[in-house]
Amino acid sequence: MSDPYIDFANSGIGRRIAGAVGLPTPARLERWQAGRQQVIEGALLLGNGPLCAEIARFASKLSQQPLGLTGADTDLPTWSTNSPVPLKAVVFDASLIVTLEDLDQLRVFFAPLLRHLQPSAHLLILGRTPGPTAAPEAQIAQRALEGFSRSLAKELRNGATLQLVYVDHEGGDALEGLLRFFLSPKSAYVSGQVLRLGAGAAKVEDWTRPLAGRKALITGAARGIGAAIAETLARDGASVHLLDVPSARSDLQALAARLNGKTIDLDICAEDAVPRLIEALPDGIDIVVHNAGIIRDKTLINMSVEQWNSVMEVNLKAPSRLTEALFESGTLANDGRVILLSSTSAIAGNRGQCNYAASKAGLIGLAQAWAPRLAARGASINAVAPGFIETHMTAQIPFALREAGRRLSSLGQGGLPQDVAEVVAWLAQPGSGAINGQVLRVCGQSLVGA
Ligand SMILES: NC(=O)c1ccc[n+]([C@@H]2O[C@H](COP(=O)([O-])OP(=O)(O)OC[C@H]3O[C@@H](n4cnc5c(N)ncnc54)[C@H](O)[C@@H]3O)[C@@H](O)[C@H]2O)c1
Repeated sequence: MSDPYIDFANSGIGRRIAGAVGLPTPARLERWQAGRQQVIEGALLLGNGPLCAEIARFASKLSQQPLGLTGADTDLPTWSTNSPVPLKAVVFDASLIVTLEDLDQLRVFFAPLLRHLQPSAHLLILGRTPGPTAAPEAQIAQRALEGFSRSLAKELRNGATLQLVYVDHEGGDALEGLLRFFLSPKSAYVSGQVLRLGAGAAKVEDWTRPLAGRKALITGAARGIGAAIAETLARDGASVHLLDVPSARSDLQALAARLNGKTIDLDICAEDAVPRLIEALPDGIDIVVHNAGIIRDKTLINMSVEQWNSVMEVNLKAPSRLTEALFESGTLANDGRVILLSSTSAIAGNRGQCNYAASKAGLIGLAQAWAPRLAARGASINAVAPGFIETHMTAQIPFALREAGRRLSSLGQGGLPQDVAEVVAWLAQPGSGAINGQVLRVCGQSLVGA
């Protein structure tokens, strides 16, 4: 469950050996520590443009050192290569890129600053989907941003990350919530991703406890990623209902005692799972995280009916049934947040995982299919697709495959359960209703499924 190579590659002798023989040198990623207040511990550079002008109005809440460029219509101190302050976070406003000529602005903006990034810097490009009456050239130029951002993310070093978000609506606290996530160590293991920010008017009262007053259900919470999600949602102020199979009761109870949460001993595939779950949630639920999942890997030619059925049942059929029941019964709050644990295997396919990848791709379909119905009530549903995460599950993988899983990504290492949990906690926030029916990978920009 740990990656000793990172320690080796970051030691004095290890660095020399790795450099001499051309081995990868994955950076030690900076992660969010409980109790931290400052979103960005260092300088934040904002590019020019209307979205950055909007961000400048609250930039001092994000960083003690917000900077702009000359020519900006903000009064921020300016950053230049003549006296380059090292940068911890960068936002480029690409919303006005509407011609092919405009694309050169990407090169002009980013090339000079890449040598001045601090370790674990976070970069963000904000685009805007052109309206239906816009010229085709605007569509082309905005689409080009994807190739640029995914490629530049692969060129970054020292644990830096980069995402592209199309901001198609403004309002509420969605943009601030997005920046608090993507410009901070909470998104340490997310890179090269593309998302869309839609409409959402919710406000967050207290950014140190953005989930205060919200009730969360986490399935498969006894260990691994589920336990980390429970810890993180509780850290952010949610009261947690922890669900797992009866055989995991003692681990579940120990975690619940620590988090002041409640336990639900339930196999989500049980015949009476729906009525029992609804009965266990008499006050309703605001956040539902479908995390319980299993693998039964075999190539299809060797796969038993039981291996196929059990994976489909736990990973896809039960979450589908429970989501529908919680929605139809009104147990899920009108502004509820549903988050489904998918996998990069669902996106890329994986030999020996026809059952697992089908079930996890089905969850992406579930998010897409249900998004409009949930949005009509102010709720949202999204999928999170982890890549290689250091858990008991991945510790069982043979050494060579495990090393490949870790190193074949832009960040050159596996993620931690906390990395997945941070994404879930962000998507669970009130303002994150602006993201709906989407899938976000947490994989260090793994080459698998890129
Ligand atoms: N670890 C990874 O690298 C990785 C990568 C991609 C996706 N995921 C997904 O993330 C989720 C969590 O993974 P993990 O590594 O923490 O797994 P894990 O095996 O450590 O934990 C899964 C939990 O789900 C519970 N569970 C299984 N079947 C259940 C059922 N029928 N009813 C109730 N609870 C049940 C288990 O008891 C266990 O506590 C899974 O859905 C998994 O597919 C994990």
